[in-house]
Amino acid sequence: MDHFNYRNGELFAEDVPVAEIAAQVGTPFYCYSTATLERHFRLFDEALEGMPHLVCYAMKAASNQAILKTLSALGAGMDVVSGGEYARAISAGVPGEKIVFSGIGKTRDEMRIALAGGIRQFNVESEPEMVALNDVAVEMGKVAPITVRVNPDVDAKTHAKIATGKSENKFGIPISRAREVYAEAATMPGLQVIGIDVHIGSQLTELEPFRLAYQKVAELTETLRADGHDIQRLDLGGGLGIPYTRSNEAPPLPTEYGSLIKETLGHLGCEIEIEPGRLVAGNAGIMVSEVIYVKSGEGRNFLILDGAMNDLIRPAMYDAHHDIIPVIEPTAGAEQTPYDIVGPVCESGDTFAKQRMMPPVKAGDLLVFRSAGAYGAVMSSEYNTRPLIPEVLVHEHQFAVIRQRPTFDEMINRDTIPEWL
Ligand code: LLP
Repeated sequence: MDHFNYRNGELFAEDVPVAEIAAQVGTPFYCYSTATLERHFRLFDEALEGMPHLVCYAMKAASNQAILKTLSALGAGMDVVSGGEYARAISAGVPGEKIVFSGIGKTRDEMRIALAGGIRQFNVESEPEMVALNDVAVEMGKVAPITVRVNPDVDAKTHAKIATGKSENKFGIPISRAREVYAEAATMPGLQVIGIDVHIGSQLTELEPFRLAYQKVAELTETLRADGHDIQRLDLGGGLGIPYTRSNEAPPLPTEYGSLIKETLGHLGCEIEIEPGRLVAGNAGIMVSEVIYVKSGEGRNFLILDGAMNDLIRPAMYDAHHDIIPVIEPTAGAEQTPYDIVGPVCESGDTFAKQRMMPPVKAGDLLVFRSAGAYGAVMSSEYNTRPLIPEVLVHEHQFAVIRQRPTFDEMINRDTIPEWL
C-alpha cells in the first residue's frame, strides 16, 4: 500500500496534487511520501516485536538526508556501505551506535572514520579485511565490534545481478569456513566478535531462500557458541521484495518474514538486526516525467519523455518493470494503445518499456513511474550532461524540495581545466 492515489481524476501524493509539484519544480523529478516511508518502516519494526531488534534501513536504496531523518525519528538504525553513506547518516543525525557498516571493500580510511565517529558494528566480509580492521583499531586504541558475513550458498531466486548468497558471488566468507575465521578473529586484540551477518540478495519474492539461510545461521550460532564465541547479535540483511505491478502475485509480507525469523532464530535469544532497503523506500517514491513528443515509427509508436536512463537506470540495467501511469486519471474503459516509452539519451538502451499498453497520451502530459523510490535517485547520473533531477518529499498537504536540480553552471563548473590548456 502507498499514498499515491487518484482523487477527483488526478494523481495525488498524500494530500498534494502531483501536477502542482510538477508546476513548481519542473520535470522530471522524484517524489517521496512520508506516510508510506513511515508505514513500511513500522511494518518491519512491528514484525519483530517481542524480540530485541533494530531495523537498520539500507540507505543505499534512497539516501537523501530528509528520508534518513524521517526514518531515524521512528528509531531506525542505518546500514551503510561507504564512508560517504556513513557521513550522510551522521549528518542526518543518526547516532553512530545505530549504524552498521557493510560491504566487501571497506578501506582503512573508511574504517578510521567509522571508528572515530562511533559504530554499532562492522560486518566483515573477508580475512584480509579482518586483518586491516584489527590494525586500524589497534592503531587508534579502539576495539571494533564485528560480525562476519557468511555466504550460506543459497539460491535467492532473484535477478542474477542482485543475488549475493551463492558461493560464486563475491560476498561473505563460505559458511563452511566460518569456524576457522571466527577462531582467527578471536585472537585479534582490535576486534570483538559479537555476532553473525548474512544477506542473500534483493527483490526476493519467496520466503524459502530466507528460511534455508536462517536455518544455517541458527546452526552456526550454536556451533560458534560451543567454540566459546559470544554470539549475541544476528544481522539478517535485507532483500524482501516488493510488488512492482498491481497485477502480480504479492511477495510475502513483513509480518510473514518476521514470523519466519522468530521460528528459525527465536530460540537463540539473540538481538536481531535486519537491513531492508527496497521495501521501505520502493513504493514510497515515484518519478514524474513529461511527454515531450509522441512519435510514430514504422509499426510502432514512441512516447519520448524528458526523463531518461540516467535518471532511472533500473529498466536498462535489470530489465526492470515499473508501472507507468498518467497523472490525469484515464476515463474508465479508455482505449489502450501500445507504445515504446523512451528517454532522449542517445542509445537504444534508454528504453523504459516496450509495447506498453497506455491510455490516450499526448505531448505535455505528465507520466508517473511507480515503485521508483528505491534504487532510483541514488543510481542516477549526469550522463549526456543531464542535471541530476530534484527530489521532493511530501508530508500530508505540504511538500519540500529535498535535493535541488543543479543549474548547468553548477554542473559544468565542477570541471577544472589544467593550466596548459
Ligand atoms: N544489506 C546488504 C548487505 C545489501 O547488499 C543490500 C542490497 C541490502 C541490505 C538491501 O536490500 P533490499 O532490502 O533493498 O533488497 N540496485 C538494485 C538492488 C541492489 C541491492 C544491493 N544490496 C536494484 O535496483 O534492483
